[in-house]
Amino acid sequence: MEARIALLPGDGIGPEVLQEARRVLEAAASRFGHSFTFELHPVGGNAIDDYGDPLPPPTLEACRTADAVLLGAVGGPQWDDPEAKIRPEMGLLALRKELGLYANLRPIKSYEALVHGSPLKKEIVSGVDILFFRELTGGIYFGEQYTSSDGSLARSVMEYSSKEVRRIVRLAAAAARERRGKLTSVDKANVLEVSRLWRRVAAEVVTEEFSDLEYEVVLVDAMAMHLVTRPTDFDVVVSGNMFGDILTDEGSVLPGSMGLLASASLGDKGPGLYEPIHGTAPDIAGRGIANPLAAILSAAMAMRHSLALEKEAEAVENAVNTVLDAGIRTIDIAAGSTHVGTVDMGSAVIESLINQR
Ligand code: IPM
Ligand code: MN
Repeated sequence: MEARIALLPGDGIGPEVLQEARRVLEAAASRFGHSFTFELHPVGGNAIDDYGDPLPPPTLEACRTADAVLLGAVGGPQWDDPEAKIRPEMGLLALRKELGLYANLRPIKSYEALVHGSPLKKEIVSGVDILFFRELTGGIYFGEQYTSSDGSLARSVMEYSSKEVRRIVRLAAAAARERRGKLTSVDKANVLEVSRLWRRVAAEVVTEEFSDLEYEVVLVDAMAMHLVTRPTDFDVVVSGNMFGDILTDEGSVLPGSMGLLASASLGDKGPGLYEPIHGTAPDIAGRGIANPLAAILSAAMAMRHSLALEKEAEAVENAVNTVLDAGIRTIDIAAGSTHVGTVDMGSAVIESLINQR
């Protein structure tokens, strides 16, 4: 197949890790007989510097017409004035919103080769395989934001419509049915009106369309605890925007590093957006030591969800497994022993991909 992939490297380590994802995609294309073309576009802090806009209109336009969008990360200390009118993150939020990407899939899986490297006990993390669905275009991220003129009062509104809840819960439930058949919905219904709506609508969806699933609701504070005490109990988890943001960062300690976690953001139509869940890591940017696996695994998700190339996606995921089983490590997962740089890690994955039978 032919596919057009928009690459948005962004800031910090974004360009370094995205370059490796691109090389892996090129290797997958040549191995499986596809043709991918790549276009680079600015987003985030560098786009503010060069164009005064974290999401320049030509970038958005290119994303709309691409088959898939791969993004590195956005942000950095030089743009980190919380009072600033324009922030790098606004580019990412606008992109998600403009493309209608309401479902953010974040797989949290432990690798057997790395269970000793997790800050948590091996018995807890071994066998973790969670697919997180974070609602991405609503909730408190997109509700009314207000600061009074004297600056003494502010509010950010968390708002959900039943339609927004229904569509994300439906996707999560459908995924659970294809997996181990368990769905967990996270809310704060003991306090928040918006969560009571979330809980009611989620229950409706499950009762009406997915009564075959094992279904539970968990309060977000309790979920924060369960995630690090009994993570293997969860299969598919669905939550609103901010709860999902927080819980998936917490979840990243299970595999042992943020550098391993990929994500896919999907809407009902149009291209998906694929990005590592990690940030720009300004402290290590430009040093060639960042872990490219989250970006590479995001590229695999792009093949799976936007290009209908399941076999190719699995081949890349297997290659990553093989490389980790072989003991090849970037510094974030090396636990003090020898490690390779960003490019060598990319090359190791490519070699394993090409030599796979
Ligand atoms: C993420 C990030 C973003 C978010 C920021 C950069 C706006 O933390 O993708 O999880 O909060 O959604
Ligand atoms: Mn986050």
